[in-house]
Amino acid sequence: MRVGLLTGGGDCPGLNAVIHAVVKKGIIHHGDEFIGFLEGWRGVLDNNSIPLTLETVDGILIKGGTILRTSRTNVRKIEGGIQKCVEVLKANKLDALIAIGGDDTQSVTNALIEAGVPGVGVPKTIDNDLNGTDVCFGFDTAVSIATEAIDRLHTTAEAHNRVIVCEVMGRDAGWIALTAGVAGNAHVVLVPEKPIDLDHVCNLLKYNHDHGKKYGIVVVAEGAKLPSGAQTTVGTKVDSFGHARLSGIAQALAEAIEEKTGYETRSVNLGHTQRGGTPSAYDRMLATRYGLAAIDMVHKGEFGRLVVLRGTEIKSIPLAEAISKNRTVDDHFLEILTGLEPKV
Ligand code: F6P
Repeated sequence: MRVGLLTGGGDCPGLNAVIHAVVKKGIIHHGDEFIGFLEGWRGVLDNNSIPLTLETVDGILIKGGTILRTSRTNVRKIEGGIQKCVEVLKANKLDALIAIGGDDTQSVTNALIEAGVPGVGVPKTIDNDLNGTDVCFGFDTAVSIATEAIDRLHTTAEAHNRVIVCEVMGRDAGWIALTAGVAGNAHVVLVPEKPIDLDHVCNLLKYNHDHGKKYGIVVVAEGAKLPSGAQTTVGTKVDSFGHARLSGIAQALAEAIEEKTGYETRSVNLGHTQRGGTPSAYDRMLATRYGLAAIDMVHKGEFGRLVVLRGTEIKSIPLAEAISKNRTVDDHFLEILTGLEPKV
């Protein structure tokens, strides 16, 4: 078969491992040919692709980023965009398309499937918020990076008797904040699923202070809502999927905490460091399993579906189900936080 591949949306560690697995298994076991569209859906619209061979993918498994590069291109917002993609895929004589991306990218895959394109999706995002899969690759690496950073903040915060507020990614879901916050023994963890209660945050910090801990670590997801209900953003521009550029909640909170408690408070935003660098062993393995399953699905004709992890097993679900909502942190997981909190 002739198969097209692309990576869309924000990059994350493990994208290359998927490409590596798809191309290797496809060529060695199925006799396939591959092309990779460059810069996500933009590459399909512009018919900009490269051949993917065993040589092209040699050694990429261990590398972060994506050899195909990526972009946030919303084909559905472009007049005639879906039709243009259908024509380009036909002109390239493709039997199938594998799209590696999060909910935005997969919303385009789904629209193309409705237009008759044989497509398969692979879930990626450090936010871990794609519905229907237990884990997206990229999440484990991001959590490790954030946890290491939080570990480091403990020692400097303690040395100065300071509170440090650490902002991590997580637009709609607080999985990174929750996991890295608990793993990094943060004193307060704040997620988008639960509006911030500033009094409660300060009471927790004061309790620790009164019980001998003269410093505090607060971990907050970028999408967490201020007491006013607002999110902090940079500028007013939104991307082609309508997302604002979230950033600044840590600084806003740091100012509010310092004012309310009198404790010297600093903020740090880990930003894109969480998306960069090499994937963890877990992400390399998960991405490889997703890639192998995706090319097998193509050969079984299982189109319109997303590869997912359920427990320890690789399965698939309809793409429409995957993009129907975000997978957010539920009460069961939020109880981990309350279970560790002192009663204030
Ligand atoms: O979608 C994943 C994500 O990392 C979000 O957590 C974050 O809000 C966004 O991407 C940042 O995207 P960009 O690369 O466009 O700044």
